[in-house]
This record gives sequence, structure tokens and C-alpha cells, in this order.
Amino acid sequence: MITSERATFGSKFGAILATAGSAVGLGNIWRFPYMLGANGGAAFLLIYLICVVLLGLPVMISEFYIGKHTHRNAVGAFKEMAPGTKWSLIGYNGVIAAFLILGFYAVVSGWTIEYIIQAFSGTLHGKDAASFQADFEMFSSSTVRPIIWTIAFILLTHVIIISGVKDGIERASKVMMPALFFILIALCIRSVTLPGAEKGLEFFFNPDFSKITSSVVLSAMGQTFFSLSIGMGCLITYASYFNKTTNIQNTALQVTALDTLVSVLAGVMIFPAVFCFGITPTAGPELVFITLPNVFEQLPLGWLWSAVFFVLLALAALTSTISLHEVATAYTHEEFKISRTKAAWLVSAGVMVLGIVSSLSFGVLKDFTIGGLTFFSLLDYVTAKIMLPLGGMFICIYVGYRVDRKILKAELTNEGTLPFYFFNTYAFFMKYIAPIAIAMIFLNELGLINKIVNFFQ
Ligand code: PFF
Repeated sequence: MITSERATFGSKFGAILATAGSAVGLGNIWRFPYMLGANGGAAFLLIYLICVVLLGLPVMISEFYIGKHTHRNAVGAFKEMAPGTKWSLIGYNGVIAAFLILGFYAVVSGWTIEYIIQAFSGTLHGKDAASFQADFEMFSSSTVRPIIWTIAFILLTHVIIISGVKDGIERASKVMMPALFFILIALCIRSVTLPGAEKGLEFFFNPDFSKITSSVVLSAMGQTFFSLSIGMGCLITYASYFNKTTNIQNTALQVTALDTLVSVLAGVMIFPAVFCFGITPTAGPELVFITLPNVFEQLPLGWLWSAVFFVLLALAALTSTISLHEVATAYTHEEFKISRTKAAWLVSAGVMVLGIVSSLSFGVLKDFTIGGLTFFSLLDYVTAKIMLPLGGMFICIYVGYRVDRKILKAELTNEGTLPFYFFNTYAFFMKYIAPIAIAMIFLNELGLINKIVNFFQ
């Protein structure tokens, strides 16, 4: 049965938590350190922070506006605001991106289940750095186990999705966010007191500007969109469940600050340990999984720390997979007018197929590459570096050029009951700075800016 009444979050706090739950995830703790490690260290951090303020915040506020204003899913929102136009392509881009991201995100989420089991069974204990690496490679390249965990994780997400917005998403987020925070801080303290920690901190905080290339800038921009869950309508979908009095400006500021803080803490936790245990910072997707077990070895009751950490990481991943799944499910449910359960099954089944191929791309399908990228890396590249920034760019253009300023301001200030001191700055960013910056980063990566400059020389 299709219910016409739409769900809302139970409380303002719940809305913030669920949105933060979407933003904080593997993107902060798994993807951020490995991207930073592979893209020149602290220089990446600097550009990342600039992107968060200049692009992340304005795009997030705009997605919130669209969702809260229309109460529709990512595609439906544009159909309502700009009927009969091509603007709904932004929404379709988002729905497809959510589906593709889940296709590789579920694999890494599945890895966390393996580590939880290993932590409890004691097999993570008593090894040196080289064996942690070798064992991870053996596990991730095997055929059956990682696929079982990937499917298990998708099913877990599925169950929460069909139990609804308030009971599922909100409740899960409320419990794990504070716990995750606590354990991150504890691990940071352990990591910075390891011998040789300074080298890691220097790598993380002291930028070498010669490392900044167009691909570093594109990677940092992609990481911004990925980490803040923006550019694909995820926050449009979540904001559609906000209630009338939710404060968009504060929610955006709080979620952005929290998400950035978690990424920085993840860096402080990982890099001193990377250098202390002689791991290469450019190791790629395995970086966190081969570094952290070494840190746990240095702690009393190491197995317990690692068990708690991987449980929390799995939960952080879960609140993000829920939000990704929700984008695709809300769209399928509302636009095709089929029940939520049926819609969720369709999404889960499709994601399982993608997840299986992604998982195999670490093993038997390792040599199956497209444009030099394995299937897993291809999904990551296409979504984070192309689809999300492109979605973000068009969201800026839409809000900057098509939305009536008065309506925009009324929604962002809850009908004038809240101040918005920087409204004009925000509107200027949406119209000029953000779309031009994103377009330039794309053109630069394609080598077009160089060609144009050379042409005029
Ligand atoms: N922001 C999530 C993370 O950092 O892990 C990943 C993600 C969730 C990306 C939802 C995009 C999205 F719409």
C-alpha cells in the first residue's frame, strides 16, 4: 500500500543526527586518509578545507532548501519546482550516483564485518605490520567471504530502510555518533604518543605546495562532495523529512563542522601510526585496514579496542548506506508508485550485483580494467570525481539563477523568524563562485585550461 502522508524526523535533534550520520562514514575514516595519502599529504588537507567552505557549505544549504521546500525525493523535487524541464536530470544523476556509490561502499562496509569477527576471535592479535598487510590482501582478494559480508551489509541496510525513517534511520544515528567520537579521540591520543609520531603529523599538517596538481585539486573536491553527502540529492531527500521549524543554516553548519572534525581526527589517528609502523601512506583503499590493527596492538586489551572501533565504523558506514539507499528507494517508491518495500528490494538486488563485481575486482577480476581502473575504482572515480561535483554545479546554477530570492530567503529563515546575515554572500556564491570554481576544476583536470592559456601565448 502506498501511504500519501510523508514521514518526518521525530525531532530537530534527530534530523541533525541523521544528516550527520549520512555525512560521517567510511568517507571520513577510510576514504579521506587514503585520498590524502595518495595525493600529497597536507596540501590535500588545505585544498579540502577550502573546498568545504567555498563549495560544501553553500551546496549543502541549497540541497536542504530544495528538499524542505518541496518535500519530495531528489527527482520529484525538480519535477515539482521546474515541471516539464530538464532540471530533473540533476535528480536522476543523483539517484544513479547513489546506486553506484552503494555498489562499492557496501564492499568496504563488508570488510568492517570481517574485522569485527577477527577482533572478537583474537586473530588480529600478535602480528607485525607486514602480516597485517599480507592478511588483508589475502582476505580482500578472496572470492567468497568478502561477497558474503557485502551482501550481509546490504541486507542490514535494507531491513532498516523498510522499517521507516523515524524508527530506523533516526534511532540508529542517535546511538552511534557520540560513541564514535569518543573512540576516535582515544585512538588519536594513542597514535600521537607513538614513537616517531611527529613525522606523521608533519605529513598531515605541513603542506608542500609543490604537490598541488590539477588531479590533487579534483580529488580534494571529489572528497568534499563525497564526505558531505552532497551533489546527489541525498540531502534533498533527507531535508524533505525536515519539519517546518528545522533551522537549515544551523543544521548545515553543524553537520559540516562535525564531518570535517571527524576527518581531521581520522588523519591524526592514522598518519602517526602509518609512519611509526613503516606503512606507505600511498597504500590506497587498504590503508586504514592495515594501519589501525597495529595501533590496537599497542593498547592494553587491544582486541576490545579493535572490536569496539570496527563495530562503530560499521555503524557509521550503516548510517551512510541507509542514506544512499534511501535516495534510490524514495525515488523508486514515489515516482513509480510502487510500495516502499518493493522499491527497497529492487534497489537492494541491483546493489548486490554491483557489490559482487566490485568485491571480485580485488581478486579474480583484478585484471579486468576500464580506462586503467578496476570496477571498484571506476565506480568510486565516476561518482566522486564526476557525478557529484557535476550534480553540485547544477544545483548551484539552479538555485543561483532559477529560484526567486524572496522564496529562497523565506525558506532559509523560516519565514523571517531567523536571521541570515550572510544571505547575499551565499547567493553570490551560488550564482558565481561555486559553479565557476567547479567548472574550472573540471576543465583544468581535462587539461583544457592549459590548452587555452597556451593558445593565447
Ligand atoms: N558521506 C558518506 C561518507 O563520508 O562516508 C558517503 C555518502 C553518503 C556519500 C551519502 C554520498 C551520499 F549521498
